[in-house]
Amino acid sequence: MSAPPSPLLAARYTPPPLPREATAVARVSALPSVTRDLACAFDPARLSAQVGLIPDDWQAWLLRSTARQLLVNCSRQVGKSETTATLASHTAIYTPGAVVLLLSPSLRQSGLLFQKVKRRLHELGRDFAEVDQDNALSVRLRNGAEIHSLPGKGETVRGFSGVALIVLDEAAFVADDLYTAVSPMLAVSGGRLILLSTPFGKRGFFFREWSEGGDAWARISITADECPRIPAAFLAEERRKLGPLYDQEYGCQFLDLLTAVFRHEDVREALSNDLQPLFALEVP
Ligand SMILES: Nc1ncnc2c1ncn2[C@@H]1O[C@H](COP(=O)(O)OP(=O)(O)OP(=O)(O)O)[C@@H](O)[C@H]1O
Ligand SMILES: [Mg+2]
Repeated sequence: MSAPPSPLLAARYTPPPLPREATAVARVSALPSVTRDLACAFDPARLSAQVGLIPDDWQAWLLRSTARQLLVNCSRQVGKSETTATLASHTAIYTPGAVVLLLSPSLRQSGLLFQKVKRRLHELGRDFAEVDQDNALSVRLRNGAEIHSLPGKGETVRGFSGVALIVLDEAAFVADDLYTAVSPMLAVSGGRLILLSTPFGKRGFFFREWSEGGDAWARISITADECPRIPAAFLAEERRKLGPLYDQEYGCQFLDLLTAVFRHEDVREALSNDLQPLFALEVP
């Protein structure tokens, strides 16, 4: 029998259904180019449809969200990276001079997201995105916007300013010091921060922000059985293979660490600010 739904999941946001015609490719391509460009400028979901990728309802919600901080806690393979690649492209195309930073636990993983962004820019073509400089780790558009793929080490990513968008992919696997290093980059620019991941235990900043970050964040969570591209039979077989870890990989659940002696909730409930310590703490 599967575990009861976590209280966090019960409270998760379910995006409203999107009218199909809102993102229909045929409609977008039939528009004259200026109107089409305007339509895509105002609606990133149309930019996705422009390259034949019709967003799922939640993906359209994510693309259209104007929240400054977004937490995306989703199953494997539902399309987190593909959607944020479109969002990063949209930000760069329609915000002259924008700096977009793509980060993940390792440079190789940031590179995977960066490749998706480059592919998206290429698919959109020069009508949308005129690439000025194309390097292994960054792209610069004619409008001065830049997209950088960065390694997952706090000490090597400092120094950017005027940042319009930071995407932290696989955020549950990213070390806290990277989060500490990138978050202040948005202090002056007022740029956006998107953390996307499949959960990885009750630890780290992704879990903390999801469970304790409050109203400062917009949240979205999509399980594998809500994704139309993942067959139910495949999921049934995965459930058999993975056992309890299925709920983490496909069910968006933050599980207690397998090596933990006590449940996270029990440890939290045992903490109290009202009790006096038995021994005074000597500060030298
Ligand atoms: N709306 C869509 N329509 C068609 N295909 C899609 C859509 N969204 C995502 N896909 C496809 O689904 C696959 C998984 O997408 P993606 O890599 O973005 O998922 P992910 O959630 O980032 O996966 P992972 O958890 O492994 O990082 C890709 O082949 C992608 O092109
Ligand atoms: Mg991904």
